Amino acid sequence: MNQKLLASVKKPEPFTRSEKMFWTDPHIATHLLEAHLSQATEGASRNQAFIERSVAFLCHEVLTNETKAIIDYGCGPGFYCEAFAKRGYQVTGVDFSANSIAYAKSQAKEKQLPITYEIQNYLEEMENKKYDFATLIYCDYGALSASDRKQFLSNCWHRLKEGGRLFLDVFTDLKYDAFTESRSWHLHEQGGFWSEREHLELAQNVKYSDLVTLEQSVIVTEDDVDTYYIWNQFFTRDRFVNELAAAGFKLIAVYNNAAGQAFNGKAETMAVVVEKK
Ligand SMILES: C[S@@+](CC[C@H](N)C(=O)[O-])C[C@H]1O[C@@H](n2cnc3c(N)ncnc32)[C@H](O)[C@@H]1O
Repeated sequence: MNQKLLASVKKPEPFTRSEKMFWTDPHIATHLLEAHLSQATEGASRNQAFIERSVAFLCHEVLTNETKAIIDYGCGPGFYCEAFAKRGYQVTGVDFSANSIAYAKSQAKEKQLPITYEIQNYLEEMENKKYDFATLIYCDYGALSASDRKQFLSNCWHRLKEGGRLFLDVFTDLKYDAFTESRSWHLHEQGGFWSEREHLELAQNVKYSDLVTLEQSVIVTEDDVDTYYIWNQFFTRDRFVNELAAAGFKLIAVYNNAAGQAFNGKAETMAVVVEKK
């Protein structure tokens, strides 16, 4: 146990995977859903007003008249899917969190929206349907390692029709500059976000070179130690655009954020529209 604890608090290689996936852990998933639904915090989803603005912008300025079928990767509880479906698009939402997909399905049923939801890892092979437009929103792209990002772009490429478009956002180098290293510990006697049992949380924020950061939580319970890693790759404009170009995508437009604010290089996020050539 002590050995495991000592190993857990050491600085890992960039993009080392957590032993357990926090998005799909049943206990953590209930807290994550609360975070998605909360309008007070933006830990898992942005607020409803931003999402509405984002979808209105996409429908008016990015989608073409030919756009019919949309796939939202990492759809969570389906906020973007619902907003697209209300505007008449055929929408598929994909997420590997069974809890979020169950919630999304129940909402679609209640609101009588014909959305297809699938519990699926978007890094794995998917069904063969082709789409006109794909989204990956709220900076999930930067949470992936370089090889996973390549895999995602390849999967997405195969899901898009010729001329189909992908819209995705990332955190910029300005946010990386503002990231500060820290260490803290908390005793959660009544359980909490990471575990329902009493646990000690050892948290550290670590800044790596090459625009990479880690938020690490080591969770010590009476008889076990679990370590969770949240990685982030931040991007300059050129780095982001070049990475998408290397996967074959043609740049259409760059924005400050997922709601279409004009790009000025001074924001902590950046969103792009690219096209399958
Ligand atoms: C930050 S949340 C954003 C959710 C949604 N896009 C929004 O903005 O409301 C990231 C979502 O991506 C999902 N996710 C992360 N990695 C995934 C993967 N490899 N396959 C499928 N879903 C994934 C998580 O379960 C989570 O719902």
